[in-house]
Amino acid sequence: MSNFTQRQKLKLFGGVGLSALLAACGGGSSLEPEIPSVTGTTVTPIATSPTPSPTPTPTPTPTPTPTPQTGTPQIVVGQLRDAYSSRFTIGVATEVSKLEADPLARARFENQFNALTAEFSLKAGTIGISEGVYDFTLADQLLDYAEQRGLPVRGHALVWHESTPAWMLTGTPADIRRKLETYITDVMTHFKGRITDWDVVNEAIANFDIDLSIYRNTQWLQAVGSADYIKWAFDAARAADPDARLFLSDYNTEIPDKRAAILTALQELIGAGVPIDGVGHQMHIRLNSSIPEALNTIIAIEDMYAGLTNQITELDISVYDDAGTCWETGTNCDPDIGNPMPEDLSKTQAQMYRDLFNGLASRPSVDSVTIWGISDNDSWLNENPISRFNHPLLFDRAYEPKAAFFAIADSTYEI
Ligand code: GLA
Repeated sequence: MSNFTQRQKLKLFGGVGLSALLAACGGGSSLEPEIPSVTGTTVTPIATSPTPSPTPTPTPTPTPTPTPQTGTPQIVVGQLRDAYSSRFTIGVATEVSKLEADPLARARFENQFNALTAEFSLKAGTIGISEGVYDFTLADQLLDYAEQRGLPVRGHALVWHESTPAWMLTGTPADIRRKLETYITDVMTHFKGRITDWDVVNEAIANFDIDLSIYRNTQWLQAVGSADYIKWAFDAARAADPDARLFLSDYNTEIPDKRAAILTALQELIGAGVPIDGVGHQMHIRLNSSIPEALNTIIAIEDMYAGLTNQITELDISVYDDAGTCWETGTNCDPDIGNPMPEDLSKTQAQMYRDLFNGLASRPSVDSVTIWGISDNDSWLNENPISRFNHPLLFDRAYEPKAAFFAIADSTYEI
């Protein structure tokens, strides 16, 4: 299953003008000058692609080099990752196909981030063709790309109900268990020693406001008849690669009710011997989300189980605060605010990013932060829950760094 919608595919292959990249660059030597690789040499073609991909042809029109304006913040190679290098990695979720198709995306990724998550190519819906039959093409390509640049890849995600192939959930609970264990064993063995952090089970905990149990009523729970599949998955993962760190990941963990459910589930699962090494907090939040509450969840997990790692796995800050009905039925959604992002919202968002990163940097259990996409034009939130302009990320639609970028990359930047 691909996560691309039709509109995203169109955007992906639409290309972006080189002038926008040049416009993003100032004059100083340490500014992002062109499209260097992480080692500072010229970007070479991505050699691992199985099929030739469309390469946007830059228009050969000479573009004047803009003169940096006084007071205009400037983006420097390595600025973001270097700002947190003593604390955590800063990754991004994308795909090699996107980086190949868009030199601007690739430049920002290679210049500012130091970890990678596959948006869809490591999910079971992509890899699990049928029982014992796998397609590792895209995943291998992503691993090769990352390894050539010395970047770690998060394993996202072995079990997620929205990316589970139908064959996995047929038959008796014993059949499902066998298929699950075989899948996890084979996939983790394939990447053994190359992927060290795995989201083993994603989004399995209930939202207390929606249903009153601890475990979410997903297709997995329904097919198995209980939440035992969580234990089966973690046990198989530990056996497949004892050196890998195993994560239970979920969304809404910044909301107190969900935090309570996560803490209860952790207590129950770890108490029953389930080998969980950490919690992945997706952190798909909104402009009115509470950063202190998000940090409280990290602290509560640290307090409960010393030694558990916390990772932020899918960070973005949506400009909308839709009613639940918008997500469920597409009704009562906030109106489209259009493009560009209004300045007051941009400042609020920048302050939230700064508060969150400052807080995360002070938590010893956090060793990885991943942002769910590079630029606003490529966020899943432009299509979910409805089609609308959203502005949740660090770079705008022309790949210009937003206030949010400078707020976290430069502590002296005035929001
Ligand atoms: C969930 C999944 C991610 C991604 C996002 C948005 O949070 O965990 O892998 O698919 O939805 O698309």
